[in-house]
Amino acid sequence: MSNVVVVGMQWGDEGKGKVVDLLCPKFEAVARYQGGNNAGHTVKFGDQHFSLHLIPSGILHADMQCYLGNGMVVNPDAFFEETSNLEARGVEVEGRLWVSDRAQVLLPMHPEIDLAREAAAGNAKIGTTSRGIGPAYEHKVSRFGIRVADLDSEALMGRFEMLVPRVRAELEGLGVDPDALATPINATALTDYCREVAVRLAPYKTDVSLALNDLIGVGGSVLFEGAQGALLDIDHGSYPYVTSSNSSSGGAAIGTGVPPTAMDGVLGVLKAYGTRVGEGPFPAELDGTVLEYLRDRGREFGTTTGRPRRCGWLDTVVARYARRINGIRAIALTKLDVLDDLEEIKVCVGYNIDGERVDELPADLAKLGRVQPIYETFPGWQENTIGRLRFDDLPVNAQQYVRFIEEEVGAEISLVSTGPKREETIMMDDSLLESWTGGLVG
Ligand code: GDP
Ligand code: IMO
Ligand code: MG
Repeated sequence: MSNVVVVGMQWGDEGKGKVVDLLCPKFEAVARYQGGNNAGHTVKFGDQHFSLHLIPSGILHADMQCYLGNGMVVNPDAFFEETSNLEARGVEVEGRLWVSDRAQVLLPMHPEIDLAREAAAGNAKIGTTSRGIGPAYEHKVSRFGIRVADLDSEALMGRFEMLVPRVRAELEGLGVDPDALATPINATALTDYCREVAVRLAPYKTDVSLALNDLIGVGGSVLFEGAQGALLDIDHGSYPYVTSSNSSSGGAAIGTGVPPTAMDGVLGVLKAYGTRVGEGPFPAELDGTVLEYLRDRGREFGTTTGRPRRCGWLDTVVARYARRINGIRAIALTKLDVLDDLEEIKVCVGYNIDGERVDELPADLAKLGRVQPIYETFPGWQENTIGRLRFDDLPVNAQQYVRFIEEEVGAEISLVSTGPKREETIMMDDSLLESWTGGLVG
């Protein structure tokens, strides 16, 4: 059996939640390795609809062990809200949901800092999810952060006495009175908060690296659930319009303490068109009627914030880049059905920047902003593909679209998703994914 990393190949919301949920029966454990409750992963089956933010999508499978790795920033309030929502719907979490003792704690002041920065930035804002993700990672890297293991530490008060004046000074500099906020920002209140959280979190706390490596040691398989996507990665994305963690596959090793040598494959999740929430360059972005069509048909509204998503054509410069930085050999192509009614479909296959053809993603944000996409145009199929189960049953034009993407991106399409539900999935015969999971999924 294999350990597989699932990553988004675009700007997030590719359908990672659906794909992870679908693969779960072939694995013993699922682990998130980065990000926090900025993620919104949707899982649908029967008449059920779940939105997961912090907790891995595997939680909906009763026999899955679920882990929040050290690379995450965990908001305890959001965590307990999610566990109680799940329990209210009959999903038992105790005894199979674990939080790394080395994960960072996202404190109530972090969203306040996030909001204050975004408000002060005006037009230069990132368009964050306002969950405090950036400030929490910043405190981690500047070594002021609090880890789960530190929640009941003797040294906590002293740590906050160093951190609090910095936070208050920053807020005041941004024109926010820290004492006027609903969240008290002082060392005593923060210490009390952490002490209380320490008790509530104790049943979930564990050494995730040890647990996962032990499981792998006895032949178990782990699915690593990426959040966000390649172009939102702090190192490889369209900086500074990115999130604050390594969402690409390399993050899975760092963010769980399972070494890269234990990873057997990387499955990239690629939406059949593009979407982006928040600010930043989006070369093949659409406006007008096709934008409206995709947003409406694809229900492209944020799972976490409800914001309307920007929509565009599929961009294979981005997809090739995602393949390279992640080591993707197999792709799950999602939301093909959303294109069903279009008369023609375009794919961005290269960039024209200042009169020159460019086939690799430029690092320079100004250049990325000046991209004129080079498109190839395909005839649509204008037939319903929702829930088709075999590739050969897809309309010929849809088959050609899928084969073109496979060729252009340079990785095998192992799975095609034609609807939000588990069963609305085409598993390709003799696929790499099948070899990683030891047989057909679903
Ligand atoms: P994630 O963040 O990558 O897990 O993706 P989201 O859950 O934020 O967004 C994907 C949305 O598309 C969700 O509402 C899914 O239910 C839905 N979805 C996933 N796959 C398909 C598909 O193949 N077709 C359609 N129509 N919807 C899909
Ligand atoms: P999933 O896992 C789409 C975007 C935000 C913003 C940028 C930084 O559901 O694919 P942050 O709050 O992380 O500091 O925001 O990243 N962003 C996402 N966009 N899907 C996500 O997660 C995202 N998580 C963050 O919109 O542009
Ligand atoms: Mg999402």
